[in-house]
Amino acid sequence: MRFAILASFVALAVAHAHDSTSPRRKSLGFGPVHPQAEYRSSPYQITTNGFVAQHPSSDPFDVARLFIEDQLAGRLSESLSYRIRDDSYTDLNTGITHVYARQIINSFEVADGDMNINVKDGMVISYGNSFYNGQASEWPANADQHHPHRDYCSQLEAEMNKGVDELPVDQTVMGSHSGIRHELRSLYTANTCEGQDIPYRFHDESVATPEAGDVRAALLQFMLAATPNAKVQEDILSNYDGYLAKMTFTPVHHFASTGEPIVVHVDNVPDTVNPVRASLVYVQLPSEAGDATELHLVWKLQVEMQDNWYEAAVSAKSPHRLISVVDWASDAPIPTPKPSAPATYHVFPWGVNDPTAGERKDVTENFDALASPAGWHAIPVANDPSLKGIRPSSGSWKNSTTTWGNNVFAQENWQGQNSYVNNYRPEADNGAYNYPYDPQETGRDDGQDEAQKYINATVTQLFYTSNMIHDLYYRYGFDEVSGNFQQYNFGRGGRENDGVICNAQDGSGYNNANFMTPPDGQNGRMRMYLWNTALPFRDGDLEAGIVIHEYSHGLSTRLTGGPSNSGCLGWGESGGMGEGWGDFLATTIRANKTYSDYAMGSWAANRDNGIRNYPYSLNETVNPSTYQTLDKPGYWGVHAIGEVWAQLLWVVSQRLIEKHGFSDTLYPPLPLENGTIPEGDFYRPRIGKKPLVPKHGNTLMVQLVLNGMKLQPCRPSFFDARDAIIQADEQLTGGENFCELWKGFASRGLGQDAAVIGRTPWGGGQRSNGYSMPTACVTME
Ligand SMILES: *[C@@H]1O[C@H](CO)[C@@H](O)[C@H](O)[C@H]1NC(C)=O
Ligand SMILES: *[C@@H]1O[C@H](CO)[C@@H](O)[C@H](O)[C@H]1NC(C)=O
Ligand SMILES: *[C@@H]1O[C@H](CO)[C@@H](O)[C@H](O)[C@H]1NC(C)=O
Ligand SMILES: *[C@@H]1O[C@H](CO)[C@@H](O)[C@H](O)[C@H]1NC(C)=O
Ligand SMILES: *[C@@H]1O[C@H](CO)[C@@H](O)[C@H](O)[C@H]1NC(C)=O
Repeated sequence: MRFAILASFVALAVAHAHDSTSPRRKSLGFGPVHPQAEYRSSPYQITTNGFVAQHPSSDPFDVARLFIEDQLAGRLSESLSYRIRDDSYTDLNTGITHVYARQIINSFEVADGDMNINVKDGMVISYGNSFYNGQASEWPANADQHHPHRDYCSQLEAEMNKGVDELPVDQTVMGSHSGIRHELRSLYTANTCEGQDIPYRFHDESVATPEAGDVRAALLQFMLAATPNAKVQEDILSNYDGYLAKMTFTPVHHFASTGEPIVVHVDNVPDTVNPVRASLVYVQLPSEAGDATELHLVWKLQVEMQDNWYEAAVSAKSPHRLISVVDWASDAPIPTPKPSAPATYHVFPWGVNDPTAGERKDVTENFDALASPAGWHAIPVANDPSLKGIRPSSGSWKNSTTTWGNNVFAQENWQGQNSYVNNYRPEADNGAYNYPYDPQETGRDDGQDEAQKYINATVTQLFYTSNMIHDLYYRYGFDEVSGNFQQYNFGRGGRENDGVICNAQDGSGYNNANFMTPPDGQNGRMRMYLWNTALPFRDGDLEAGIVIHEYSHGLSTRLTGGPSNSGCLGWGESGGMGEGWGDFLATTIRANKTYSDYAMGSWAANRDNGIRNYPYSLNETVNPSTYQTLDKPGYWGVHAIGEVWAQLLWVVSQRLIEKHGFSDTLYPPLPLENGTIPEGDFYRPRIGKKPLVPKHGNTLMVQLVLNGMKLQPCRPSFFDARDAIIQADEQLTGGENFCELWKGFASRGLGQDAAVIGRTPWGGGQRSNGYSMPTACVTME
């Protein structure tokens, strides 16, 4: 091999396909830690150089600017500045303005130099800051100092050398010890840990600045790492120069300055489905001593592939070095399918998790008038992708008679392709989407054909569930300005033309599901798969928990770090929480007044305990996860990390339910004619202009979780996300649940004195549980 892939330092989730013919999806996620990054979650923790709270009526953006300049303490100069991102917004309910700032050095953006400043009534109530705080020198000379890759490899090696009894017994993704070893070995190989340093192609001055190197070289190296297709890899390696020569560039010019980095579009990149967007930016790498960062010039690439949508940073000077990768596509995990006795299925309304939990019933299109003012089937002609090129008379709408609307496009995708507009959808019969679902047991080879017979029913279900989620999250504040998914935004702000493309029975995989979340203004894409875990096959579209989990990736990605920054939940603890929120929300949605434990994906996977290590449970025997569990072998993947987070939230949530009771519905009442939202039995009585506060424990927890996402910094740790939830409560209720929240978190080791030493990018480090709480809570026992 002429070039090896010294690139992906990565959690490589390779689908454990049962038959070797099914496609193997690959997903990379890696990036450096930012030792200087901080999140100050209460005004008392904020230290300033003289900044003081401004008048309550001050423009929150002015407050944020003053604050940033105060934090920069006179370092602002021609070579060091920042810009306020235009995806900043004010939350209509809490009145908190979430301001996002990006650092600029030597006129290049620092792609991971982020500040999120939360402003209320002239005060900065909390902020996150990962700005580079070293000297902005003329030009960084630090091309090749660090090798996070080597650290990663040695960690993997250590795991591989562990004794059998140190490995987890029930690791769902792998199933057995030999499975775990196999998985670790594939990670090791896939990351070319055994590889030697490789020569790389250097710059071609005609297409890039000499300092920056050649974006094409960086791209080819990235594609070698990213492509799941061995044939493509071989082709690139055997015809490297040919591939370089074929790539063409289109600079993207804006009429007016956007303040954003200059982007080039690169065409003819192998194994991609759209031109790659590339820009030259800085990223930060940990310094030798590990306590600060150094700037490194990279190509930031947005690479859309069949199964992945990457944002990657590749060293500009050393294009064989991949600095960070975030896959905007998020997988559900892959359990081991086990054939079992066939079940009988029916189809279900909202709250029925899967065909074993209830009957199919006729439900009406009970859209939420606030969230979906035009219903689920109407779409403006101008925003309808099937009518591209048609010049609409202004303001004209189309009523669709199929599963096609402003929030969701649902269709089959048996071919597993990227195109979706012309895929099959059921046609309503006089407004009714009423289709049989009666799968019969077949041989394994006919499993898919059998599922295709009820495609009308399953696309209908996916459309319904996804719209219900859209409306639910909307009412808790995932609205247009905070980056939700809609083709048309009703003039309420945010970027448009990003409804969710929902593919039912997607042919690109089995026993899984995934969601791609590009920045606000680009469609999210959900792909639901069949599960060959039983005969007849089970259809993930019919298990609401999986659909909710996937949609929630869109929610958490857009709310964390701002709508236009999709890179905040890429790996390690943050990536793990990205999984955990989905599990927590799916479980909360299916729960009822009578407490029970719940497992994720147990119907689709055909396993009582579902696809995680443990069901979500208050019982420490049933689910023993604590903060420190993250250090256990087998917890380097985002799903395992996420499971711990979801369990923490589940425990905390039950404390709020104990205190405030349980609401049978999570949907708030509809607004009155005059736009006022009535309190009903849902919200507390509202005094003056105070925000609406859900009255019950389960609804309050959902609200705190969403508000916390908006408050927390980009790339949050467990500590940051916990603190953000506690501040969300402070803002919403005046902190009346301060001790319940702390007790809940502390009961599973995430108390005040929980600690981590030497956190590593993929979630490594040494953690210790902490059970202590603020003094105010100890005396309250
Ligand atoms: C869509 O349906 C609504 C409600 O029936 C109707 O008022 C409207 O005229 C229809 N729009 C079009 C473009 O057919
Ligand atoms: C789906 O429904 C349409 C009527 O809307 C019907 O013609 C078609 O046969 C159905 N498809 C299947 C696979 O049953
Ligand atoms: C509540 O949920 C549990 C577990 O899913 C279920 O067994 C029970 O029947 C449900 N109760 C009601 C009233 O729906
Ligand atoms: C916790 O679960 C274990 C194992 O299922 C069971 O034996 C025990 O009784 C449970 N404890 C409580 C308090 O329910
Ligand atoms: C809206 O209508 C309700 C019920 O009629 C009334 O109580 C409320 O004061 C009205 N609010 C406004 C802002 O007019």
